[in-house]
Amino acid sequence: MAEQQSQADLDRKAGTQKRGSAALPDRPTSRKMRPLLDLWPYVARRGLIFWPAIILLLAGVAITLYLPVVLRDIVDNGLANNDIPAINQGFITFVLVVVLMTVITSARFYFMSLLGERAAADLRSDVYKKLINLSLGYYSSLRSGEAVSRLTADVTLIESFLGSSASIFLRNTLSLIGALIMMFFLNWRLTGVMFIAVPLVMIPMFVIGTRVRKLSTAVQDRIADAAGEASESLEAIELVQAYGQEATRADRFRQACETAFQAARRRIGAQTLMSASIIFALFVGIAFMAWLAIQEVLAGRMTSGELAQFAMYALSGVSGFGMIADVFNAAMRTSGAIQRCSEILNEEPDIRAPLKPKQMPSPTTGAVRFDNVSFSYPTETEAAALDKFDLNIKAGETVALVGPSGAGKSTVFRMLLRFYDPTAGAILLDGMDARAVKPQDWRAQFGYVPQEAALFSGSAADNIRFAAPDATNEEAIAALEAAEAWRFLQKKQGLDAELGGRGKNLSGGERQRVAIARALVRNAPVMLLDEATSALDAENERLVQSALDKASDDRTTIVIAHRLATVRRADRIVVMDKGSVAEEGDHESLIKQGGIYAHLAELQFNGN
Ligand SMILES: Nc1ncnc2c1ncn2[C@@H]1O[C@H](COP(=O)(O)OP(=O)(O)OP(=O)(O)O)[C@@H](O)[C@H]1O
Ligand SMILES: [Mg+2]
Repeated sequence: MAEQQSQADLDRKAGTQKRGSAALPDRPTSRKMRPLLDLWPYVARRGLIFWPAIILLLAGVAITLYLPVVLRDIVDNGLANNDIPAINQGFITFVLVVVLMTVITSARFYFMSLLGERAAADLRSDVYKKLINLSLGYYSSLRSGEAVSRLTADVTLIESFLGSSASIFLRNTLSLIGALIMMFFLNWRLTGVMFIAVPLVMIPMFVIGTRVRKLSTAVQDRIADAAGEASESLEAIELVQAYGQEATRADRFRQACETAFQAARRRIGAQTLMSASIIFALFVGIAFMAWLAIQEVLAGRMTSGELAQFAMYALSGVSGFGMIADVFNAAMRTSGAIQRCSEILNEEPDIRAPLKPKQMPSPTTGAVRFDNVSFSYPTETEAAALDKFDLNIKAGETVALVGPSGAGKSTVFRMLLRFYDPTAGAILLDGMDARAVKPQDWRAQFGYVPQEAALFSGSAADNIRFAAPDATNEEAIAALEAAEAWRFLQKKQGLDAELGGRGKNLSGGERQRVAIARALVRNAPVMLLDEATSALDAENERLVQSALDKASDDRTTIVIAHRLATVRRADRIVVMDKGSVAEEGDHESLIKQGGIYAHLAELQFNGN
């Protein structure tokens, strides 16, 4: 188990090092803030929320800076002169300002939060739109679940940053600058002393703060480890219990939690030290400043009211500074998340339309040609999946592709659907090179039934219309009938029958027939069938065969065959081995040759 775990770790590490652009570190280590600017278009795009938010932000800062002015007037005009009505009037003004401040602050909160959520929703759909358009080559170098984690974890981080941290940061920075300006005009000498004193107080805070931040990251990592450990075991709970590993697994989780606790204890220690030094430094600093300020008042360079005003700015400035330091860490982590999202957004699909795409003849006759095609998968460097593969298929012909596992049969389909481009040679349909037309137009020429027939959650009709959104109910039923899928669906709710996630409400054979119907309804010139390798019972087998028969009527059909019945129906059998055509002919002649096919037939198509 431990070995497996470390192997998984290795895989993960290897996965993150492959292909610079697709592979990213688990935790954003970037100290740079520049990626934060990438959010600007998302924020600016929503002017109706953005501008009110900015105006409210500025108004909020202004009114917060005004409050100490009211306080100064109360002290200087009221208290100093024993003027009771002036004091009362002053406090009424104070309360009115507070009411206005409350309204503005709440409205600012509303618009700022809304802006954050709006931008995050836009970003999330943009990232997904990009992901679903990227070529298969991008995904082969991505760890499974990594793309989804960008979409969820990273965007969630950005969401919370935009919704709160960004606002805290902006507000406090502006308040701090405003307070400093006001303080400077009130008493530049005092402000000057503070400029020297504050950094002295802040140095220990930053030193310990950095350590606290590092330790919190460590705690987060340990907790993530523990969670990963737990989810791995819970996902494979059958296996854990079947092998009696409950106690070992529970123990490992306890250890992971223990490590997280030890990290947390170190963090608490550092944090305690930090709090202590902050409190001490802060109050010594305040005492010192107050002493200096009183000297100024006694020397007649400042009124008592101005002293009160100054003190209010200083206190709000210090607390604002603390909050800026707090959100700094959030900004840094967000910066990493944005960087990862931007990388996806800047990724261009390898497979895309040429600058001047040619028009596909419509309809094409379905004459398929592989002209000396060589190809190896992006992650494989040595072995070629296709090696000078040559194949010419006439319009309307039915060709069976057979060959040992790993010969490259499914790769032929992936190339035909232009999920990848060949490294040498060309793939042609009616003499038109795949790379000369728009990928969507090219792919529209094919109906495709994959080896594991994947269906989507939703009704039978939804699944059929996945291939042809405009298909009428009659067309859908006709396709289902041709694919021998209508009879069993009728016993459920017909077109409304819910197929369940991945079609789990159906049997293997039923799933396949619905997938064949889905390919049929598209009415494309070329049909690609990757026959399932799993065994079907005799009745299902007969039904699938009959469905395949109808599917290959009057159109070019290429079928990757694992059954003798399928092979027999074909006009021609092409035997593949190691990425090239090894033998060609009909069943009898190939058996007589006594080559790969004869061997396969003996092993695979048993009973013959
Ligand atoms: N996404 C991929 N990335 C890297 N290599 C791949 C990928 N898919 C397939 N291969 C490799 O390419 C070769 C051909 O695979 P392919 O799927 O075409 O075989 P196949 O003939 O369909 O086999 P089977 O009968 O088992 O389905 C194999 O060596 C396989 O390991
Ligand atoms: Mg295959």
